Amino acid sequence: MQVQFELNGEAVITDVEPRTTLADCIRDGLRKTGTHVGCEHGVCGACTVLINGDAVRACLVLAVQVQGDKVVTIEGLSGDELSPLQVAFRKHHALQCGFCTPGFITTAHALLTNEPNVNEERVRDVLSGNLCRCTGYIPIVEAVLDARIHYARGEE
Ligand code: FES
Ligand code: FES
Repeated sequence: MQVQFELNGEAVITDVEPRTTLADCIRDGLRKTGTHVGCEHGVCGACTVLINGDAVRACLVLAVQVQGDKVVTIEGLSGDELSPLQVAFRKHHALQCGFCTPGFITTAHALLTNEPNVNEERVRDVLSGNLCRCTGYIPIVEAVLDARIHYARGEE
């Protein structure tokens, strides 16, 4: 089947099997390999992308379901420079192997866009759906809290 959508601001048209997940379409077909695939059944959050601004697990969505939608991956969140969330993750050492990081950043981006003054409890609650085997989560939460000021100023 042919599917057409916007990926990181650019129109794409691609052929997929009806059973192809959005994660596989993005990674294998469109070569945006910043979207990682871990569990492949909606548990780890590594594959999280933005669909029309919402954080969504790309392993649980079929590519054909995003017809006409706006999809943003980790590659679409920064230009020539790192985004405020990426800078905060680096500052707080919020990653080690980095496998989980794109999912955390896309999830946090959707949260901070909608709730720039979010408190720590809410950050922990929202990020509880993303798994990290390295960091112990504390620096990730600190990084997201640190990035809030940029979203409050509209600098994301
Ligand atoms: S790979 Fe999608 S949630 Fe784990
Ligand atoms: S930094 Fe390794 S899984 Fe999170």
